[in-house]
Amino acid sequence: MTRQSQSAFSRFISSARDLFAKEQKPEKRWAQLEPLLRELLADPSISMSSKNWPNCSQKDRAENLLFYEDPEFGFVVNGLIKAPKTRTQIHDHAHNWTLYGVLDGIETIERYERLEHGSKPDYAEICQTGKFRVGPGDVDLVPPYQIHAEESGEQRTVAVIVRAEKPGAFLQGRYDPVNKKYWQSYGPIQIPYKMK
Ligand SMILES: [Fe+2]
Repeated sequence: MTRQSQSAFSRFISSARDLFAKEQKPEKRWAQLEPLLRELLADPSISMSSKNWPNCSQKDRAENLLFYEDPEFGFVVNGLIKAPKTRTQIHDHAHNWTLYGVLDGIETIERYERLEHGSKPDYAEICQTGKFRVGPGDVDLVPPYQIHAEESGEQRTVAVIVRAEKPGAFLQGRYDPVNKKYWQSYGPIQIPYKMK
């Protein structure tokens, strides 16, 4: 992290911590965090720093760079760098609140709804309820259990993600709409990374 990106990032962490201390209701807390993340994404030093961030694999388990974990409130800041034309599985984030901020590149986000709830094990019918493009500066708020997928476009995409807690150690839902399958697996592997 350069000195400039470090100070933009520190300002973000400090404002996020103030917000976590004063707002306990998750809906309000995460809505109010959104403009703070937008401000971070708009800082040119973060964009400059991101040119060096390594690609994250999207194999059986995705990888996320782990920039920060808050010792008191538990929230984390992740980086996710996708190679062009990379699509995630359709998934949810379980109970974890997420703000997905796009720093670079264009992504398509798909949203789904589940049509039935656990009538049969390993079974899920879902239907797509939205599909939209996001680009630099856009922030998508992903509440608990919201079902979605993301796909990068023709270029590498970079996202800065804030999550209520570190993922990877608890199960998240996965969906196969063609075969109407539901299963769970662990979330992204966390790769500690110092921005530079
Ligand atoms: Fe996701």
